[in-house]
Amino acid sequence: PYDRKIRELLGRMTVDEKFGQLQQLPWTWDTGPGGGETKAVEDAARKGRLGSVFSIFGAKTTNALQKIAVEESRLGIPLVFGLDVIHGMWTNFPIPLAQAASFDPEVTAADAEVSAKEARSSGVHWTFAPMMDVTHEPRWGRIAEGNGEDPYLTSAFAAAKVRGYQGKDAKGLKDKDRLAACAKHFVAYGGAEGGRDYNTVDVSESRLRNLYLPPFKAALDAGAATVMASFNTISGVPAHGNTHTLTEILKDEWGFDGLVVSDFTGVQELIAHGFAEDGADAARLSLNAGVDMEMTSTHFVENGKKLLRAGKIEQSRLDDAVYRVLQLKFQLGLFDHPYVEEKDEITEPSAAARKAARAAAARSMVLLKNEKSVLPLSAGASSMAVVGPFGDSDDLLGTWVIPASQEKFPAVKVVDAVKKAAPKAKVTYAKGVDAAGEDTAGIPAAVAAAKAADVTVVVVGEPPSISGEAAARSDISLPGAQEKLVEAVAATGKPFVVVLVNGRPLTLGGWLAKAPAVLEAWHPGTEAGHAIADVLFGTVNPGGKLPVSFPRTVGQIPIHYNHESTGRPYDPDNKYTSKYLDLPEGPQFGFGHGLSYTEFTLGAPRLSRPRVAAQALRKGDTLEVSVSVRNTGKRAGDEVVQLYVHDKAASITQPVRRLRGFRRVTLEPGEQTTVRFRLGAEDLGFWTNDTRGRFLLEPGAFDLYVGTSSAAKEKVTLTVT
Ligand code: IFM
Repeated sequence: PYDRKIRELLGRMTVDEKFGQLQQLPWTWDTGPGGGETKAVEDAARKGRLGSVFSIFGAKTTNALQKIAVEESRLGIPLVFGLDVIHGMWTNFPIPLAQAASFDPEVTAADAEVSAKEARSSGVHWTFAPMMDVTHEPRWGRIAEGNGEDPYLTSAFAAAKVRGYQGKDAKGLKDKDRLAACAKHFVAYGGAEGGRDYNTVDVSESRLRNLYLPPFKAALDAGAATVMASFNTISGVPAHGNTHTLTEILKDEWGFDGLVVSDFTGVQELIAHGFAEDGADAARLSLNAGVDMEMTSTHFVENGKKLLRAGKIEQSRLDDAVYRVLQLKFQLGLFDHPYVEEKDEITEPSAAARKAARAAAARSMVLLKNEKSVLPLSAGASSMAVVGPFGDSDDLLGTWVIPASQEKFPAVKVVDAVKKAAPKAKVTYAKGVDAAGEDTAGIPAAVAAAKAADVTVVVVGEPPSISGEAAARSDISLPGAQEKLVEAVAATGKPFVVVLVNGRPLTLGGWLAKAPAVLEAWHPGTEAGHAIADVLFGTVNPGGKLPVSFPRTVGQIPIHYNHESTGRPYDPDNKYTSKYLDLPEGPQFGFGHGLSYTEFTLGAPRLSRPRVAAQALRKGDTLEVSVSVRNTGKRAGDEVVQLYVHDKAASITQPVRRLRGFRRVTLEPGEQTTVRFRLGAEDLGFWTNDTRGRFLLEPGAFDLYVGTSSAAKEKVTLTVT
């Protein structure tokens, strides 16, 4: 709808001004090597040599900078302001990995709506989220920012988050409580070798299309306005210089007409990758490959004119990139409303936002283990101990939190929330050990507290500083001496529960067998303590499920439920099968696992018809898989019914199973419902290795498993003719 206006503006721009629109500079918060120089940013805005600024917020600050661009630059083109609002601005929701554990996309939509309101009111137009990098690497710190190991679950969350940021019809970018979303990182960043950040990814076309690309397609179908390129290489070609992924797939095959932004110095890094000779070469390669805006490094503005004159960049490519930038600004309504109302700025979490964050955090927790029903705890207990380095910590917001948010609105502490939830109990706290380091001098005090209490809550895990970007770990057990603390509490023989606060799957070690109950709380956000107490005391019955496998040891990585079939599947009685000699089969806790304080029984899955023609499915026909689920326990609770598909024989070896449906239901004791899933060609077929994009649905038998985790055993078989 803005075509005429954009073209008119393009016609008035000099080459320098055009390249200026392709430049994005950081303001103050460093989210990569090197930071913002605010004076230089203002100068560039004044000269019309700047299109966007990121790591900036605050109504006054953004308005002042905007004023320079609008009133002092020759054409008065407004700036677009970006910020990493990943799981909250002032109100932090649980980390995205946790949100995925809710198996309820409304959780992530709620985060996006609250985030958009808070951020837009503070002058931010564009968030660099959602992150949708599927990964099988728990060592990779950025696993916290995505939705785990499954492309279908990640797709559902990516689409819901985009709608939450941008509005349901994705046309609401002008609204004063919406943000432009950014589908990142394009693509296959989660495949980084060994989980080392910024690393190599060697990936077949079929894996690229079946595993890594689907969430991006879902996000774009939901209307995501922008895409960010990733730091990794893709089969030898860095993502920032990758014509195949950025142009052939994203822009041509999918018809994406939005903006592609580089990651922080991603253009410049083509030199370190050994792909570009120098800055000019890096600009040429990435602009031609399909990057439209350069973040932080300045090779487009510095070399663009020369490259254009030398014919190394086409005028049409330059104009196309500028078009995409201007289009975003028109979509956001910046030409009409470049400023925000300073009096309307939201500067703290509202009560409603806190309530939503608390519900989201509790809904995202996963009960890994609960023997002898230690949980839920009784709010009427007379004495309780809270021990562990995170029991009295307000550092539970997780990775990617705006520094001012951590300072002003730290997380609610577990010990404070426990005191509130059990007002009559004598609650003691002992740290025991630090979050890092081998000092065990505090353990005797923690043991004494546990001995004196009816029940002990041990809160252990990872500090957010070792989760997220540039936070790969080679050992993913509890850091420092925390395992020793759990062992010491276990040795008291008194009842206790372990609460884990972490940003990735952990290896749980020998203490797991001794712990009667383990609650995976992740990094729960602003309302951390309250949400944990809600679940511990049963105000909320946990219903989350793991969006990622928990390995038994690091040596087992990669381990994920959706691995391909081998020629020698695991057989305990046959040595010559695919396995580790020194480990039991499978992960410690598998994808989709999670317990409740009640029990559920599922009926046998039923198929609406056992045979269907591939041709009919290709034309849009679907079939139904249904299953009854009953709450057979004594409390109301949630179950996530999951549907997995296995194509038994195909021209490309298929995963042993893959998720193609999930539904979280709430049932009263004794209540029963029927869950219905619809399956179509897109659920049964797969992408081949054809680089032009070929999706195949081959005739044959498909096992359809329905259950409450990826270990579901009940199945029906569908024949596609
Ligand atoms: O959005 C981020 C990206 O995910 C990692 N590098 C820095 C960017 C901007 O802060």
